[in-house]
Amino acid sequence: MRIDIVSIFPDYLTPLDLSLIGKAREDGLLDVRVHDLRDFAHDRHRSVDDTPYGGGAGMVMRPEPWGEALDAVAGSGDGVPHLLVPGPGGVPFSQAMARDLAEQPWLAFACGRYEGIDERVVEDSATRGPVTVVSLGDYVLNGGEVAVLAMVEAVARLVPGVIGNAASLIEESHEDGLLEYPVYTKPPVWREREVPPVLLSGNHAAIASWRQQQRLSRTAYRRPDLLHASATLQAAVGEGLGDVAGLRLAVATPADAPELLVLQRACWVPEARANESFDIPPMVESLEELRSSFDGWTTWVVRTAGRLVGSVRGRVSPADPAVWETGRLMVAPDLQGHGLGRALLAHNEGCAPDGCTTLWINTGSRSAGNIRMYRKAGYRLTPGPGRFPGTVDLTRLVVRRQSRTPGPARNSSSSG
Ligand code: ADE
Repeated sequence: MRIDIVSIFPDYLTPLDLSLIGKAREDGLLDVRVHDLRDFAHDRHRSVDDTPYGGGAGMVMRPEPWGEALDAVAGSGDGVPHLLVPGPGGVPFSQAMARDLAEQPWLAFACGRYEGIDERVVEDSATRGPVTVVSLGDYVLNGGEVAVLAMVEAVARLVPGVIGNAASLIEESHEDGLLEYPVYTKPPVWREREVPPVLLSGNHAAIASWRQQQRLSRTAYRRPDLLHASATLQAAVGEGLGDVAGLRLAVATPADAPELLVLQRACWVPEARANESFDIPPMVESLEELRSSFDGWTTWVVRTAGRLVGSVRGRVSPADPAVWETGRLMVAPDLQGHGLGRALLAHNEGCAPDGCTTLWINTGSRSAGNIRMYRKAGYRLTPGPGRFPGTVDLTRLVVRRQSRTPGPARNSSSSG
């Protein structure tokens, strides 16, 4: 991959000589060329800025040196580079964008300073090739150089060969829309803090389940916006649950247990009647048992106006790490029939870690409504009796969606 960077502070980019990026340059995987914008300014002071038309504070970067510099870069190779202009007014940089850019053969970065670059430079460049104004985040830096260092690192490490252990790229924050699980190394006890015992258990299914739970609850706590962006439940709310107002999805905490117990007993009455047995776990479980289930399962609750109206839970099967189990799917009786159950099911399925290839669910063998719904959702009945007496198992093979990588927009607006 070729990367050109134009800046009035070329020395700012010297960290690109170091570490993995420096090594990738030595190995010929990356061809990074840094250019001094002032080499394209021809007046006595090699000036690159001027006062803004229309007044206002600060200075604006002049179009002439930028035009010449970007013409020179674009004319120095085959094809055209994708031009990236860092600026706080740009589209947010993301892992998806990094993945997309890592597949492109040639990137060029134009580092603005002061109040930004004359807008006509972006417009002019867009007549030649793709241009994206990109922001690192909702804060203002002094110029684009620091942003370029971050973006080049995020992109270059995805270029094949740059990182020795490609597997480490898969289990990372943001790779599938969730944050990473916490990691630990030796010693097992440090300052009286123990490594979570499950990690020392050697039980790979339990470890996978714990890690997935950590990812979900960490994302829900630190970045609920990511869950909302990806949650199938939210999509379903948009599509068909408009009449169930203001649904809020969250990972259950022990404080939700009493309400969950009540909802669960209410929801399982029809099941108990259909199956002619009240001796089924959701009916007889104690509050303590329900609370302790939060250890092995990730339980989701849905509230509307504060009221708990739905729930579902998921885990990697303790017996088979390739199986993602869904359990305790419930919707308050008065809100059934609006699609909330289907949405919760889909949401929980979407929480399955990448290693899971089968979705599993279990219901009463005479729970005709449930069986119909699961079949509609793509599940097939497993022949023979289910895991628990009087139940049936249903499974569905996972079809992994290609992650959506919205390509950087052409000619996005406004730099600076
Ligand atoms: N230049 C100044 N602020 C910036 C930001 N937040 N992202 C990218 N480039 C910038």
